[in-house]
Amino acid sequence: MRVPVIAGNWKMNKTPEEAAALCRALLTHLDVLDDREVVLCPPFTALATVSEAIRGTKVVLGAQNVFYEDSGAYTGEISPLMLQALGVKYVIIGHSERRQYFGETDEMVNRKVKAALQHDLKPIICVGETLAQREAGVTETLVKSQVDKAFHDIAADEAKQVVVAYEPIWAIGTGKTATSREANRVIGMIRGTLGEIYGDSVAQAIRIQYGGSVKPGNMAELMQEPEIDGALVGGASLDAESFARIVRYDD
Ligand code: 13P
Repeated sequence: MRVPVIAGNWKMNKTPEEAAALCRALLTHLDVLDDREVVLCPPFTALATVSEAIRGTKVVLGAQNVFYEDSGAYTGEISPLMLQALGVKYVIIGHSERRQYFGETDEMVNRKVKAALQHDLKPIICVGETLAQREAGVTETLVKSQVDKAFHDIAADEAKQVVVAYEPIWAIGTGKTATSREANRVIGMIRGTLGEIYGDSVAQAIRIQYGGSVKPGNMAELMQEPEIDGALVGGASLDAESFARIVRYDD
C-alpha cells in the first residue's frame, strides 16, 4: 500500500515570522493521521523557523528547490547538504515555475534528483503539460519524456524514494482542476512509464501526486481515484483551515 503524501508548496510567500504564525495555526487544525504523510515546503528563508515549529509533530519539512553540488562557488544556490542539516526530508524538483522562469531543463532536474537522493532527501519531481501542449494532443508524449529523463540512471531502490507530482500547468493557480478521472488517467500513464523502466513492483511502490488548484472541495474526489497518491498544494496551503481540510480529505 502506498502512503499518500500531501505537501504544501508555499512558493515565494511568508517571512519567518509569518511562517511561524501559519505553523501555529496549522498545528491547531491539523490532525495528521497515520495513513498519510504531511509535508510543508516553505521558502529557504523560513526552513529553520518551520523546522523548529514542527519539532515533535508528525509534520515533515520539505524545500522547494536544491542545487546539485555539495558546496562551492555557486552564488545564490543551496546544496542538499545544507537542506539535510536543517532537517529537510523532501525537496520539490523541476516545478513548472522553475522550468518556465529559471530555465530548468530535464537534464538539470535529473542531476538535482541524483544529488538529493545521495543526501537522503526525497525528491518530489514535478511534471506536466501546458495548455497549448494539451490542445496539441502531446500530453502523453511530453509527460512520458519528462519522467524518462528525470529518472535517467536512477537505480530501482532509489526510485522508490521518489515522489512524482503530476501538475498540468494550465491548472496551477487558475482555479481549473483536471477532472479527477483525467488526473487519474495521466497518473496511470506515468506509472506505466515507471513500470517500463523499473518493472511493475517498483512502479506500484512509487507515489504519484496530483497538483493544480487542489482545494478542500476537490480533494476527496481526487483521493478516491486509485492511482492518485496525494496532492501538491499551492495557494490553499497558505490558509491553515483549508490545508487542514485538504489533509483530512474533508470537503
Ligand atoms: P495551486 O494549488 O495554487 O494551483 O498551485 C499548485 C502548485 O503549483 C503546487 O506546486
